[in-house]
Amino acid sequence: ADEPLVLGIETSCDETGVGVVRGTTLLADVVASSVDDHARYGGVVPEIASRAHLEAMVPTIERALARAGVRATDLDGIAVTAGPGLAGALLVGVSAAKAYAYALDKPLYGVNHLASHICVDQLEHGRLPEPTMALLVSGGHSSLLLAPDITTDVRPLGATIDDAAGEAFDKVARVLGLGFPGGPAIDRRARDGDPGAIAFPRGLTGPRDAPFDFSFSGLKTAVARWVEAQRRAGVEVPVADVAASFQEAVTDVLTRKAVRACREQGVDHLMIGGGVAANTRLRAMAEERCAAAGITLRVPRPGLCTDNGAMVAALGAEMVARNRPASALDLPADSSLPV
Ligand code: KG4
Ligand code: ZN
Repeated sequence: ADEPLVLGIETSCDETGVGVVRGTTLLADVVASSVDDHARYGGVVPEIASRAHLEAMVPTIERALARAGVRATDLDGIAVTAGPGLAGALLVGVSAAKAYAYALDKPLYGVNHLASHICVDQLEHGRLPEPTMALLVSGGHSSLLLAPDITTDVRPLGATIDDAAGEAFDKVARVLGLGFPGGPAIDRRARDGDPGAIAFPRGLTGPRDAPFDFSFSGLKTAVARWVEAQRRAGVEVPVADVAASFQEAVTDVLTRKAVRACREQGVDHLMIGGGVAANTRLRAMAEERCAAAGITLRVPRPGLCTDNGAMVAALGAEMVARNRPASALDLPADSSLPV
């Protein structure tokens, strides 16, 4: 049987992503990022993101189609991130998807950003077993999700009650003067540091705490205070040690809770996605702990973990394959779309 050919559009944050897939096969993945335009503000500025999406949208779609070597008229569907994300940014992608769907007379599929972060793994490791346990860690989210059906049923088991994991990386990087985005910079500097140098707090890991919720704002504050105290004492800040110790605290909590969720739900495999899944220490620790618990770990390559259009196309293709209903052409962009 012919696998569905689907174009996916992602504009929930600062990357204009367009991907083309056939079933679980990746044909093209083009990402135009406005991250450099936000760097001097130390975070994503919504208006700048929307404007950049608007400029990049059509060229990125055309480039993805060209790279995939397919004609728009051959598509079986057009998928787009309907939410959650920045309202104005989402609107650009949703409007473009509607225009192409209408002009080409193709079905439109509005998909959830978090579900696509999970589904993208199919492009690397083949069909996901169901139910799938997923740890999603990015600049906007830190969630444990159980997905009995990736196209219709994704259940949140827990989430951050304050900062997202990626947000904590970005804020700590700022304190250390490492620039934005902070995740990759901390990852790099931590390689020369001692993860046991400083005992930073592990949020929400007490016996009475919610087992699958996360909290990273206390950790971020603890790091800022520690660094501040060093500076006040006129001591040079051991940047690599701070980066490594902070990273250790984040990955310890994330992997501990993810493995526990698998155990309690009787799921023997775990996928990790979102931008923070690119973190080398998180990948290594998850591998160790999953192996020890008899859990199969699935982590897409870093380029598929950060926001991209291929993940949207992957979920769209799954929806076509499972005969899920298409979205109406008045599909709204929903900045707080629940899974
Ligand atoms: O998924 P993503 O591209 O966008 C969101 O939906 O948020 O994730 C971006 C986040 C940023 O906070 C960035 O600092 C973080 O992922 N990140 C990392 C690494 N690469 C990106 N965090 C830790 N280690 C990394 N190697
Ligand atoms: Zn994301």
